[in-house]
Amino acid sequence: MIGPPLFRRMVRSGRSELLMGHRTFTSSPTAPRGQGTDQRPAPIIAIDGPAGTGKSTIALRLAKHFGWRYIDSGAMYRAVALCAAERGIPWTDEAALVRLCAQLTFTFAIREDQLVVCVDGRNVTQAIRRQAVGAGASQVARLQGVRTILVRKQQELGGAGGIVMDGRDIGTVVFPGAEVKFYLDATPEIRGRRRWLELQQRGEPPSLLEVIEAIRRRDQDDRSRSVSPFRVVEDAYYIDTTNLAIDDVFELMVDKVKSFGVSFRSPDSRQGMGCPQST
Ligand code: DC
Repeated sequence: MIGPPLFRRMVRSGRSELLMGHRTFTSSPTAPRGQGTDQRPAPIIAIDGPAGTGKSTIALRLAKHFGWRYIDSGAMYRAVALCAAERGIPWTDEAALVRLCAQLTFTFAIREDQLVVCVDGRNVTQAIRRQAVGAGASQVARLQGVRTILVRKQQELGGAGGIVMDGRDIGTVVFPGAEVKFYLDATPEIRGRRRWLELQQRGEPPSLLEVIEAIRRRDQDDRSRSVSPFRVVEDAYYIDTTNLAIDDVFELMVDKVKSFGVSFRSPDSRQGMGCPQST
């Protein structure tokens, strides 16, 4: 959990303030490996955990609070599933999905307190949240070829530091050297309830029991897949959010990040550039 020496040195000397650049994050179609843990001037905050633990809400708030960028890795799996469906590629056709992934460019921006997700310049923020797309994401996430390419793109997007990234394998596979790692958890019932409330707000209202059942199935699929199965990150700071309000979780995490010597600055409005408004 303790950050690499270079990062700690820079934070103490105040250089982290100067070195944390802000811009829209874009992955290139041919992304090189970009982890470079020992040369990173600003931290990487990894947040892992199952669906419905409040990861994305908290990750966005943390990114804004500290003036860093936010990369939602699950959104990338969802975007691949969406683009595949639109092109008639089955979610099981690994060779075609790998070719598709390699061509896609992902862009993340924070605009009006929301994460905006674009693929090849197209705003897919709303489209990727549909339940059917989530089911597709779970399928494509089982394929090693897809994971290899998306992990590389995630490393390219976040390798320079100054980011919060959430997902299932951020602290274990994508950035095992992240300065601060969190693992958020909660019971399937409470996670199902949270997801159900979200779906209600989006006008896609299945029954509560259906959503809890879907969460259990998704957990089971993610944990039992043969490729990069989802597991608890052992060196992460574990938070059971079952009985905690989102504000309490946020405060806990801010304190933890600060305890690593990380100072914060106000967010930069330029983060909103680069994605079209329409969905
Ligand atoms: O967090 P989410 O529901 O948006 O994720 C969508 C799917 O992608 C879900 O089945 C888990 C999978 N996923 C993954 O395997 N690895 C990640 N880093 C992020 C998500």
